[in-house]
Amino acid sequence: TGQVALDIGFVNTAACTSAITYIDGDAGVLRYRGYPIDQLAGKASFVEVSYLLIHGELPTAAQLAEFDGKIRRHTLLHEDLKQFFKGFPRDAHPMPVLSSAVSALSTFYQDSLDPFDEAQVEMSTYRLLAKLPTIAAYAYKKSVGQPFLYPDNSLGLVENFLRMTFGLPAEPYEADPELVKALDMLFVLHADHEQNCSTSTVRLVGSSHANLFASVSAGINALFGPLHGGANQSVLEMLEAIQRDGGDIPTFVKRVKDKEPGVKLMGFGHRVYKNYDPRAAIVKSTADSVLDKLGGNSELLDLARQLEEVALTDDYFVQRKLYPNVDFYTGLIYRAMGFPTRMFTVLFALGRLPGWIAQWREMIEDPTTKIGRPRQVYTGPTVRDFVPLDQR
Ligand code: CMC
Repeated sequence: TGQVALDIGFVNTAACTSAITYIDGDAGVLRYRGYPIDQLAGKASFVEVSYLLIHGELPTAAQLAEFDGKIRRHTLLHEDLKQFFKGFPRDAHPMPVLSSAVSALSTFYQDSLDPFDEAQVEMSTYRLLAKLPTIAAYAYKKSVGQPFLYPDNSLGLVENFLRMTFGLPAEPYEADPELVKALDMLFVLHADHEQNCSTSTVRLVGSSHANLFASVSAGINALFGPLHGGANQSVLEMLEAIQRDGGDIPTFVKRVKDKEPGVKLMGFGHRVYKNYDPRAAIVKSTADSVLDKLGGNSELLDLARQLEEVALTDDYFVQRKLYPNVDFYTGLIYRAMGFPTRMFTVLFALGRLPGWIAQWREMIEDPTTKIGRPRQVYTGPTVRDFVPLDQR
């Protein structure tokens, strides 16, 4: 009833208030709970930042130890849930495997589903933070036909994930500390980004009082799309395609500018940033050192750099304020770390999880929250009379 405003894609419409993440898109500013991203990246650990996002304050050493200890205690998956992975085709993309397994958590952990029971929400928070890396590693193991490794709870979250992903039962695996540090920092950079597509999905699903597992599972599916988290996979595929065409950047850029259907400069542009994405700036500066250390494909990195240079000086991109976003350089680092292209968006999901949880909890705790229910502007036929089948 009353007047309905049309805002396709929610370009101008805020659906909630939030005290978690601040973005100034014109200035290229990103802050978690007030802390600038460049002060957190490389200094605060991913688990520490998860605590900050969820609880609003940086933890003391004792609070961090307790939080980390609880996450470590919940890393195991129910043995029956492990069977679940066997049901998927071997060439299944790991993202739908991830969202399906997270959805299934609400069948295995029925004692932590009530959104209005604080202790249950705490429990589901720990379960998700602890189990998503295990699920992600098993989705990978399934795709390469290797046995699942049990988590080793003497290890931190990132080390444990790397071990479950790249380790083998008969061989000791020790993650390269540089690699652990870099991946931990990349997770920090992805940890929250206010009301993006997947986070809005988590809130919308949760606004019907669906449980946290169900809401996060929906968020993972939203993240899968190539315009959102799936962009990190698309960037690498785009770079490889340009490489196959002999590194012909001008021809590719022309196709983008001609708006050939389906041809975009992936990893460029953002709804909110009309300036350099501050996360991309940090990723770019680390890509160099990580690739140096891990011996990545420097040819693709060179190609990415040239592509960026061309785009940043070309009128098409300048006028539209299109800059590299977080997905532009991350894939090159993930590749150098040994992850197959299809795992890139899974890594984004691991990083974004604390943000989804923090936003869902903020939504549930806010007494002003209402069920999310957008309006529409109807454009179909006006009323008409039914014609029976034999008269049509
Ligand atoms: N390549 C070429 N042209 C582009 C691009 C691009 N990557 N992004 C936007 N444009 C053009 C677009 O065609 C439009 O041109 P015109 O004014 O002539 O119609 C103009 O720039 C404005 O773009 P828009 O589509 O109205 O912008 P949006 O806010 O709706 O979309 C976006 C934002 C991120 C979906 C889009 O920039 C895009 O598709 N980028 C490529 C995919 C990508 O990298 N996504 C990752 C986003 S960041 C991290 C994450 O969320 O995962």
